[in-house]
Amino acid sequence: MSKEAKLELEGKVYPLPTIEGSEGEKAMDISSLRANTGYITLDDGYGNTGSCISKITFIDGEKGILRYRGIPIEELAEKSTFIETAYLIIYGDLPTRAQLRKFSDLFTEYQFLHEDMKYHFESFPMGAHPMAILSAMINATSCFDEELMNWRWGKSNQFDVYAAKLISQVRTIAAYAYRKSRGLPLIYPKKAYKYTANFLHMMFSTPYEDFELKPEVVKALDLIFLLHADHEQNCSTSTVRMVASSQANLFASAAAGVCALWGPLHGGANQAVIEMLVEIHREGDDGSKFIAAAKDKNSGRRLMGFGHRVYKNYDPRAKIIKKACDEVLAKLRVSDPLLDIAKHLEEAALRDSYFVERKLYPNVDFYSGIIMRSLGIPVEMFPVIFAIGRMPGWIANYKEIMEDAKNRIARPRQIYAGRTLNHYVPLEERK
Ligand code: ACO
Repeated sequence: MSKEAKLELEGKVYPLPTIEGSEGEKAMDISSLRANTGYITLDDGYGNTGSCISKITFIDGEKGILRYRGIPIEELAEKSTFIETAYLIIYGDLPTRAQLRKFSDLFTEYQFLHEDMKYHFESFPMGAHPMAILSAMINATSCFDEELMNWRWGKSNQFDVYAAKLISQVRTIAAYAYRKSRGLPLIYPKKAYKYTANFLHMMFSTPYEDFELKPEVVKALDLIFLLHADHEQNCSTSTVRMVASSQANLFASAAAGVCALWGPLHGGANQAVIEMLVEIHREGDDGSKFIAAAKDKNSGRRLMGFGHRVYKNYDPRAKIIKKACDEVLAKLRVSDPLLDIAKHLEEAALRDSYFVERKLYPNVDFYSGIIMRSLGIPVEMFPVIFAIGRMPGWIANYKEIMEDAKNRIARPRQIYAGRTLNHYVPLEERK
């Protein structure tokens, strides 16, 4: 059977080549459409648009499958660590022992920010949102490293260093952003600690006393980083790719990703979930009133942590995180009324025809916030944790763009629907 699609338009037939991915995903290649027909495609929100061919992450939203470089998320969550998974995502294979050692050593080598960056932290007002600080400071990092600022792909073999520097320093910046927002003194990273432990140390130690690193807390946060490590062409990753397509440097591209991630419909949803649960709790609602409001389009409400553009089945990350949530809270002997409300909301929504018909299931953010709360991470830091976790995915996508010799600057078209030609009217003649 022919794999060529045909488009019939204004009496002419145009062949459209088709492409099939390694997991059977199908696409029609329309890259010559405008040149051949004068038409463009219109796809509001890009729900039907493949923006690239990628080898990093596979998602089957109907079946609830997520794999990084072919490995199921469930296996990685059980057996791997965030840093090992970061290597897998960026370089395509699981590292050997020596490769992992070298990769980890780079994090230690580059974990300190340039000392002068401290003055920039000082100029943010107390209470500034840490996502704003994170994005600004990631971007500012390249100002403190001339070589990085002027580095271009293929110019020197520095990618490994910059990738590790970004993953390492984003954690230092994130912890500083939190401490600045609370008016607390900055805590330096320690060589002896591994990645996630070091982050917790910089967040919660004091100049007098080191934070007690409970293994279950370190493990839970590492799992959250790992589960967020990549998710193919979502809003923030597409932003990173778009910025990278202009040949902007890695740090500038990642800073743009942080901004895109911040919104409540994306990485800000974990914060919005907790705010929603707190509100339900405060009002003494068992969730029913909120669900009714979420179904009413005029209420401006949505059931936060529910629904996903791609998953039309349970988000596989949400399954893992729900289980981890139960385990962590039990181990830490934390009893959180918000967990009961969340479970009740989930049960009620999964029975409700509104959510069932629209295939709205809990996404990764629905339970991750409850775990982070139990670890003592403040709510405004939730999207920051997401951003730290997503860094390997953004770096891998950046690398993919740079390695593609055919990469063109991303530049969508539009259908103009504004005024047709009209003319300038001098101010005194305007009514
Ligand atoms: N609560 C109530 N109704 C919802 C919800 C929700 N959480 N999500 C979608 N719907 C409804 C919409 O109103 C729409 O109804 P309609 O067909 O009657 O008009 C239908 O379901 C389809 O929704 P869309 O907005 O078209 O779905 P889209 O794919 O554009 O949006 C999104 C996906 C943004 C995730 C959406 O489900 C949402 O806003 N969820 C809440 C925010 C959230 O949890 N975001 C995190 C996403 S995961 C992540 O970024 C890590």
